[in-house]
Amino acid sequence: MTKRILLTGGLGYIGSHTYVALVAAGYDVVILDNLSNSKRSVCDRLAQITGRDTTFVQADILDEPALAQLFSDYDFDAVIHFAGLKAVGESVEKPLEYMQVNVTGLVNILQAMQAASVNALVFSSSATVYDVSNTSPLREDMQTGFTNPYGYTKLTCEQILEQAVAANPSLKTGVLRYFNPAGADVSGLIGEDPNDIPNNLMPYISRVAIGEYEFLRVWGDDYDTPDGTGVRDYIHVSDLANGHVLSLNALLDRDESHLVNLGRGRGYSVMQVLNSYSRACGRELPYQVMPRRAGDIAEMYADVERAKQVLGFTVSRDLDDMCDSSWNWITTGAKDA
Ligand code: NAD
Ligand code: WQD
Repeated sequence: MTKRILLTGGLGYIGSHTYVALVAAGYDVVILDNLSNSKRSVCDRLAQITGRDTTFVQADILDEPALAQLFSDYDFDAVIHFAGLKAVGESVEKPLEYMQVNVTGLVNILQAMQAASVNALVFSSSATVYDVSNTSPLREDMQTGFTNPYGYTKLTCEQILEQAVAANPSLKTGVLRYFNPAGADVSGLIGEDPNDIPNNLMPYISRVAIGEYEFLRVWGDDYDTPDGTGVRDYIHVSDLANGHVLSLNALLDRDESHLVNLGRGRGYSVMQVLNSYSRACGRELPYQVMPRRAGDIAEMYADVERAKQVLGFTVSRDLDDMCDSSWNWITTGAKDA
């Protein structure tokens, strides 16, 4: 029988791409989102991509009665929980808001699941939970830590999940530590287009490419990396989306909890990303080297062995695919979204 999945935050960047992958894999999906960082028009885009009507409920994960209603309206087999706040800088200014939405929000979801006897949850964690003292490649059993309230909330959520599983052996969780998601669906109909000035590299470069910003600020070129700029593990968002399907399959078919990195297992420097994007858009993109950004480290990339062993996870798209699809999205779909 078709399995029904609740996707919180399903109209956002990673959620919308995961929706596409889940429908392609034969799942029936209900999206919950409060539209705080996404647009209703994504529903139509998802319908266009999948050829199916999108089931969307506008609600907040902090609204417990709305969650109870949703769980009584639908029989869910599992939940994928994306909804949350994700801007590191903003979290320093509004730590309580981050704790409320990210931590209380997760607790609300777990309580609603428990009341409805839903026992499978995939959770969006982050490579930010690794302690900065670790050396890449980062393995799941390495030291965790945090340097800002956002990181604190993700680590706290992981710990809450561990304790919830210990107390309820029927509950199975897939904790996915994403590295740096980038790129867009091949259709160009969905992608990342933040309302505010982007902090993340790829959306910032895409705005330089369309001429909205004059140049990229490269935060430091004196790191101990091959070209001196910061190295990160960029992963195509559609590969990341497939990781969620594999995680869900493991929870539902094998009844197994897991905690895995989702990355490509190799790093690219800021200059490599800029060069690949310049190739994608057909002109040399301007940049200026600035001092290092507070809190940044030289390099960070995943050890991907566990994701491969436990989930069979591999990627099929490279940095050029990420830049090409980002450019396609920003010059087509993003315009009238
Ligand atoms: P996003 O902001 O694009 O998507 C989040 C979605 O959740 C948005 O559509 C937003 O409207 C919704 N939302 C926010 N608060 C809500 C609430 N209280 N109730 C209901 N809906 C709410 O972000 P994303 O990049 O797709 O990230 C998804 C998840 O992955 C987040 O939990 C984020 O912390 C995590 N993550 C993201 C990255 C990244 O670089 N993008 C990396 C690691 C982890
Ligand atoms: C990547 C590289 C910058 C912007 C953040 C969060 C992390 C996770 C992913 C959610 C670094 C450089 C960037 C710019 C630049 N999110 N850069 N100029 O810092 O690896 O991770 O997003 O969980 O928690 O911390 O990603 O895209 O901000 O930066 O030179 O305008 O690009 O210094 O080397 P980061 P990023």
